[in-house]
Amino acid sequence: MGKYFAVAIDGPAAAGKSTVAKRVAQALGALYLDTGAMYRAVGLYMLRHGVALDDIEGIKKHAAEARVDVKYVEGTQRVLLCGEDVSQAIRENAVSAAASAVSAVPAVRELLVARQREIAEGNVVVMDGRDIGTKVLPDAPVKVFLTASAEVRARRRFEELQSKGQDVPYEQLLEEIRQRDHNDATRAASPMVRAEDAALLDSSDLTVDQVVEAIVAMARAKKEAAR
Ligand code: DC
Repeated sequence: MGKYFAVAIDGPAAAGKSTVAKRVAQALGALYLDTGAMYRAVGLYMLRHGVALDDIEGIKKHAAEARVDVKYVEGTQRVLLCGEDVSQAIRENAVSAAASAVSAVPAVRELLVARQREIAEGNVVVMDGRDIGTKVLPDAPVKVFLTASAEVRARRRFEELQSKGQDVPYEQLLEEIRQRDHNDATRAASPMVRAEDAALLDSSDLTVDQVVEAIVAMARAKKEAAR
């Protein structure tokens, strides 16, 4: 890849990556890319077209039809699926499991990783996902693995859904988070793993501000050193 500056933030579901990454991007004047949203869009496509989530061949066959684009409206990322803005629809709870299923299929990953690298090219980006530091941008100057206990993450997810009027029991969310952790960490294709050179940040007992400050400080130090 050519010149770019990236902050790669990886970690498990509901660790607060997107909240933190958005704020870090703002502080650095960088473009924020939520790569999970792209897998969610492909997952939504499969749900809408009745492709079973355990039908690997079916997902593979339909992967190229699920055209995912990202655009920025007043600095906010919007995700397009075959031209339709699905930014809201992909946040439905049912789409989480679909995203996790399609993200295990190498053909889906190849398409999306290529697109993610194109977006990073020539830009200052903050990207969050599972494989940014290990696979998408392995030479990103700043890498963070952001995590929190499963209970803290389920609680945060519960409150987020409640605030949107979606009533999903806490116990169900905890179980889903454990299931997704397991799927994301054990799949053969680019499993979620901390890159050797990624800083480990456990946000269980930290505020969002503290996490953001720590990452911005790392990024500024790297930028300074690169001058
Ligand atoms: O971060 P999220 O919950 O929106 O991600 C949805 C799913 O996509 C998640 O189960 C794992 C997968 N994913 C991935 O495999 N690689 C990424 N870079 C981002 C997300």
